[in-house]
Amino acid sequence: MSENGYLTFALAKGRLANKTLELFEQMGITCDEMKDKNSRKLIFVNEELKLKFFLSKGPDVPTYVEYGAADIGVVGRDTVLEENRNVYEVLDLGFGKCRMCVCGPASARELLLHHERIRVASKYPNIAKEYFYDKKHQTVDIIKLNGSVELGPLVGLSEVIVDIVETGSTLRENGLEVLEEVCGLSARMIVNPVSMQMERVRIQELVQRIRGFVDRKE
Ligand code: PRP
Repeated sequence: MSENGYLTFALAKGRLANKTLELFEQMGITCDEMKDKNSRKLIFVNEELKLKFFLSKGPDVPTYVEYGAADIGVVGRDTVLEENRNVYEVLDLGFGKCRMCVCGPASARELLLHHERIRVASKYPNIAKEYFYDKKHQTVDIIKLNGSVELGPLVGLSEVIVDIVETGSTLRENGLEVLEEVCGLSARMIVNPVSMQMERVRIQELVQRIRGFVDRKE
């Protein structure tokens, strides 16, 4: 952690990492090495600013940050909530906006209304559990899936799903709809608690600068 004065960032591979790098570039924090799409390199360094970046699968970002392998992470709020790691959430980056929702066929509305014991398929079993058990006090059976969760109600695996809705087109194209909203989502910056203590000034300055850019864009 903060090895030889470097601050290390773990970024969730894909759209969020691209957006984060775009934002950093606008702020003058560049890492040309990362732009080479053919490169198989995993860690990228900006020697001038003493920053290191690596890309990982989204759900692994909070793990790297909790253990201090990365000082800072950028990942969706969905993953922060699902993984529930010991990290500080310091900033809403304002992009990657979407919603976590309970979705299903219109006919499932009744089942929710009457607190029936239904099956809920989700890539986010912890978020689903928190929502149904702690918030709604409804006993349900939660089934973990790894993707294409909309299939659940279509093939009779579950009555509803808890999943991310962005444009709503996946739901529409499959005859499903939003039945309840669990929470809003967007990209978040998370920080290792020890790094926050050891590198407080540097991290806070960086967060302030990023916040300034994010606010300006909104
Ligand atoms: C996500 C999510 C929905 C879809 C929502 O899936 O799980 O399926 O995007 O987006 P929309 O409202 O704009 O249609 P993703 O593409 O990440 O793949 P997955 O199904 O494998 O999780």
